Amino acid sequence: MGGSRVKGALPILVLLCWSGAALAGHELDSRDIRNGQVLYKQHCASCHGANLEGQPNWRRPKDGVLPAPPHDASGHTWHHDNKLLFDYTKLGGTALMEARGIIGIESGMPGLGDAMTDDEIWDVLSYIRSTWPDRIREIQAGRNPPHGP
Ligand code: HEC
Repeated sequence: MGGSRVKGALPILVLLCWSGAALAGHELDSRDIRNGQVLYKQHCASCHGANLEGQPNWRRPKDGVLPAPPHDASGHTWHHDNKLLFDYTKLGGTALMEARGIIGIESGMPGLGDAMTDDEIWDVLSYIRSTWPDRIREIQAGRNPPHGP
């Protein structure tokens, strides 16, 4: 038996807030932000917007699927820890949920793991983070478990 079935797209956001343990929080440090910006234009801007503004009415599902949210500070990208952002980008929304035992969610977020290397994904996420104000960055950093001594 493979997990529970959830109808519609809205629960995704709720479910993400439950996301559990993650890696320590420094995956986004010392990355190539300029490379990330180039990669963002290539791989993300068509949906998430050239200025990270997302698609119009991004909170409202269209035909049961959520539009692409903004990645700037007005969105909810910074509500998630690094590991979740990475997995979301690499696997895509549907596969990520299936990996967490939640079957039947249709997500408009494609898995980019075939198109990009892991390092490239971290560079893009680091570029996205670089556009956030300090306060938002601090909050997002706090979502990652602290490093040991
Ligand atoms: C074909 C359109 C498309 C492309 C290309 C795309 N996304 Fe998405 N993305 C979406 C949609 C639609 C959602 C919202 C649906 C969902 O959450 O399942 C989403 C959600 C996300 C989320 C989870 C929500 C959030 O804000 O945290 C992340 C992270 C993400 N995308 C990162 C990326 C990154 C990074 C790239 C480029 C490397 C990218 N996406 C390329 C459509 C796209």
